[in-house]
Order: sequence, then structure tokens, then C-alpha cells
Amino acid sequence: MAEYLPILILGAIIGVFSVLFVAAYGILKHKAPADYDRHMKDSEIIGRLLQYAKPYWKAFVLAVVIMVLSIVYDLVSPLLVGHIEKTVARDFQLPYLLKVVAVYAGILIVSVVCTYLQSMILQKTGQKILSALRQDLFSHIEALSHAQLNEIPVGKLVTRVTNDTNAISFLFTNILVTLLKNIMVILGVLGAMLMLNYALTLMILCFVPFLVLFTVVFRKFSRTVHRSVSNATTDINTYLSENLSGIKITQIFNQEENKYQDFLNRSRRLQKAKFGRLFVFGVFRPMVYMLNISSVMCLFYLGVKGHLENITFFGQVIDASVIVAFYMYISKFFNPIQTLAEQFDMLQKSFASSEKIFTIMDMQHQIVDEPDAIELQELRGEIEFKDVWFAYKDKEWVLKGVSFHVLPRQTVAFVGATGSGKTTILSLICRNYEIQRGQILIDGIDIKKIKISSLRRHFGQMLQDVFLFSGDIRSNILLGKEGVTDEQVMEAARYVNAHSFIGKLEKGLDEPVRERGNNFSAGQRQLLSFARTIIHKPAVMILDEATANIDTETELLIQDSLEKMKNIGTMLVVAHRLSTIQHADNIILLSHGQIMEQGSHQQLLQLKGRYYQLYTLQYEKQQLQNS
Ligand SMILES: Nc1ncnc2c1ncn2[C@@H]1O[C@H](COP(=O)(O)OP(=O)(O)OP(=O)(O)O)[C@@H](O)[C@H]1O
Ligand SMILES: [Mg+2]
Repeated sequence: MAEYLPILILGAIIGVFSVLFVAAYGILKHKAPADYDRHMKDSEIIGRLLQYAKPYWKAFVLAVVIMVLSIVYDLVSPLLVGHIEKTVARDFQLPYLLKVVAVYAGILIVSVVCTYLQSMILQKTGQKILSALRQDLFSHIEALSHAQLNEIPVGKLVTRVTNDTNAISFLFTNILVTLLKNIMVILGVLGAMLMLNYALTLMILCFVPFLVLFTVVFRKFSRTVHRSVSNATTDINTYLSENLSGIKITQIFNQEENKYQDFLNRSRRLQKAKFGRLFVFGVFRPMVYMLNISSVMCLFYLGVKGHLENITFFGQVIDASVIVAFYMYISKFFNPIQTLAEQFDMLQKSFASSEKIFTIMDMQHQIVDEPDAIELQELRGEIEFKDVWFAYKDKEWVLKGVSFHVLPRQTVAFVGATGSGKTTILSLICRNYEIQRGQILIDGIDIKKIKISSLRRHFGQMLQDVFLFSGDIRSNILLGKEGVTDEQVMEAARYVNAHSFIGKLEKGLDEPVRERGNNFSAGQRQLLSFARTIIHKPAVMILDEATANIDTETELLIQDSLEKMKNIGTMLVVAHRLSTIQHADNIILLSHGQIMEQGSHQQLLQLKGRYYQLYTLQYEKQQLQNS
């Protein structure tokens, strides 16, 4: 009995740890938060990922073949070292020893080269798959309707295109192959050990249930900590992206301290979550190591004992070379199991990322061309609304039975209180949203029967919130249009009175435009958007005038540009300063999504209705300011 005491002590220690872990597992069970809101099956995700990998199947087969070669080293090296031990211990002959060492070195080199080749092939393939996925995702997002885009925060979309696609690329370049490799190594090592000695293999297999137990417990804990790290990271990112865009408001309202505290709390949460993760890994790895060392100790104890006592098992004897080989196999057996446990988590993570990406890809494009939609080569610029009803959210009507008719080359202005539906009408004309009832006709054709791209090509939009892209003035005016000379760009700028301020810029058309054009004033941005429209020579121009106060000088410039632009085509204007639109052919006054009055400036004044009130109010205000 006494001779087995060391093994009994070892068993007791492992047993105690196992009980502790099972208890911890039980406790965590009650605290575990709701699982990922996964709704796709693993098989479905794998199937869809494979579609992306399919074009590169040859590369993957090659990588697997090379991987099998590299595994040879893992399996053969312990045998060779055992053999070297035998050579040294029994009939020592230097030339023979050198030969064996040379074989060992040869296999090692082959293995290193194989590992390098394999990783190169996989990295390249992974990057190709990644960029295919990223492009698909981006073009899918581009085609989403405004209503759908309003639903998803921009920060989230950015994460999908960057982080989540990266997680998937990691799956192809690393996880899948390591999983496969580790499984093959484990099976290979097991086979090799069985060939060498059944008894010692059985001894090592006694540790496997504990290893499985530890792994199961670890996976549960690691999932929890991973999730809290990822939640805390997303939280911090969202907070940052929102607050950095709004940082000027924070400063103006003197809220730096409050915001700092909010940020600090989030940062601490992330720190705590990361500590938690460190702790879980910090416990798991030594535990696996403990099993590893315990099995080595058992190997030495039982192996040497068996060797000394010359015990045979099914005809297999234990000699020193077997013990040496087993010593090496043990770590080659435990390491992959530990890696597998850790990688399984990564696998889950990439699946979660894949699912998030596929969820976006599965968003049906709401506004698509009908099969019989036609291509509009020319547009005269006639627009008709027939009893149009529209709601952003079901049944909360924003437009209630709006009808109007715009003839080619007419200028029509929309006026009305804020929220009355002016911007909405303009976006419906560009088919950014689908109407619920009624009909919109462009040149007498139902808007749904016209290809969206051809429709938008004929429209020039100058929106309420002029968006400039980072780049320079030229690229912002051209927006990708090719074959336009600088002279033509400047001519367009001159036409809309933007040339004078562009001329004053140090670098002219090359002047850099910072993010969102924040190095230009609202009026300057508006003028640039006019120039942009002129260059694209649209048949219908849509202008949603900024509500922001513009100085009188710029206002005059804008008015003058509008007058000139009237000659180009049909023009729809939303104006807040009624003085801007006096010359419009038709003025439509909206209130709560309905047309109250329409007619020319003079007609509406004579009506002495709402327009008359608004106009006199603005006129008096103007007089007051001037006096
Ligand atoms: N994306 C949206 N989702 C839901 N409701 C919206 C959306 N955009 C606008 N609305 C609502 O539709 C109504 C009309 O908005 P719209 O932007 O057309 O007003 P507007 O006349 O252009 O106002 P302003 O003069 O302030 O620009 C408002 O009540 C607004 O709350
Ligand atoms: Mg508006």
C-alpha cells in the first residue's frame, strides 16, 4: 500500500481541485447572464462561411497537406530522442549517433519550413476572403434604405465592417487549421503512445477525465469573462464615438467633469472585466500544467518501477527509451488539449461575429428596382404627387394626402413650420423612402417603374445639412465625376459665387477639407454644394436650405446663385427666408403634412392667409433689424 502513497496523494489533490471547480461551476450557473442572442445554427454559419472559402479550396487542401507533414515532427521526434537515448546507453557509436541526430535535425527543418509555408498560404487566403467579405458587406450597406440606415448606429456598422470581419479572417487563417492540427496531433500522439506501451498510455488516459472537467468549467467561465470584456469594450467605443462628435457641446455646457466621470466608470468596468479574464486564464493554465506535471511524475514513478521490476503488459516491456519518449509525448498531448479549449472560445467568438455580419447581409433591401423598371436616358423634370400618404413609422402619418404638380423647368418652393414635412417630400422624390399610399410621377412615369440609379443620376441634391467629405475642395465639388478640368470647376464655382472665397484660400481647389468640412462656414458649405450640383448638371435640382443663420452677404450670394440656377432645370426649394423664393413659379405652404395654400407669391399675398401672415412677420422683423 505504502508504495502507492505518492500516487494516492496526487489523486487526492486533483480530486479536491475537481470538487472545487464543480462547485464553482454550479455557483456560476445561477449568475450566468442570458446567452448570446444567437439565432443562427452553427451549421448554417459554417455553410455560409464555406461559400466564401470555396473559391480557395485548393489553397486550403495544400495547407492541410503541408500541415500533416509538419505534424510528422511532433510524432516522430519523441521516438527519435528515445532512440538516441538507447544508442547512447547501449552500444554507443558516434557515427551512428550523428546520423540519428542529422535525421532529427532534418525533420525539424522540414517541420519549420512547412509551418512557415502553411501560415503564408493561410494568411494570404484569409486576407483574400476577408476583403471579399468586407466588400460584400460594404456594398450591401450602401444599398440599404434610409429607413434601415436610421435603425443601425453608425458605430455599429463600422464595427461590423472592421472588427467582425477581422474575427472571421482569424477563423480562416488560424483557428480552423489549429483546431484540425491539434485534433490530429492528439490522435497521432495517442496512437504512437499505444504502439510504444499500453500500460503507460492507460495511465495517462486516467488524467483525461480531469482535463475534460477542467476544460468544461474553464469554457463556461471564459465565455462569461469574454462576454463582459466585449460588452465593456463596445460600451466604451459607443460612448467615445458619440461623445467625441459632441465634445464641443460638452465644452460649451461645461460638462467636462460629468462626462469624465461617465467615461471613468466605463473604463473601470473594462479594466475589471479584463482582470476577470486574466484571472480565469491564470487559473486554467496552471491547472492543465498541474495535470501535465502529475502525469509526468506518475510516468517516472510507475515507469521506473515497471522498468526495474521488469513488468510486461501484453508483451510490451518498459525501458529507458520508452520513458524518454513518453515524457516528450505527454506535453505534446496536453498542450493541444489546452489550446483546443482556448481556441474553442475563439471559434465561438468568430461565429458570433459571422452571425452579426450575416444578420446585416440578410437585411432585405427595401428599395429595389422592379423587374420591369426602365432606364431614364433623359429627364424633362416634370414631377407630380397624387394623394401621397407617407409615415416613417407605421400609421404615424407625416404626409397626409399631398398632391401637387411641377412642370419642367419650373421653380417650386416649399414653406411651412418646422416638422411640417418639407424635407420628407424632397426625400420621397429621390425615392429614399417608399410611400404607403398614392403615386409619385416623374415625367409621367410612376417613380417605382424607374431604375433608382437612373432616377438619382438626374437629380442634384443640396441638403439641409451639407455633407463634405474629407479630401480637398476639388474632390468635394467633383464627387467622383471624371473628365472635368479645373477651369470648368472654377467656372461652376463662379456661377454660384463660390469662387471668391475659394480664391482667397491659400491652396485654392487643393485646400484640404477636414472631416465633415468643419473648417468651412455653413454658408461656404452651402455654396460648395451648389457648385457640386452645377457640375453634375442635373435635370432636377433639390435644395433644402439650411436653417442656420447665414450673414446677409452670404445670403445675397446664395439668392443670386439660386436665381441663376433656375435656368438649368426644374428646381425644388425649401426656404426659410421667404425673401429667397419670391420669384418661384409656385409656392406650396405645408402644415402638419398637408398642403394649406399654394400659388405664386403675389397670389398668396392676396389670399391674406397663413403665407401672408408669415411674410408680414418676416418683413417686419427685417425692417426692425435694418433700422
Ligand atoms: N427619419 C425619420 N424617422 C422618423 N420620423 C422622422 C424622420 N425624419 C423626420 N421625421 C418626422 O417627420 C416629420 C416631418 O419632418 P421633416 O424633416 O420633413 O420636417 P421639415 O418640414 O423639413 O422641418 P424643418 O423645417 O425643421 O427642416 C417630423 O415630425 C419629424 O419628426
Ligand atoms: Mg427639413
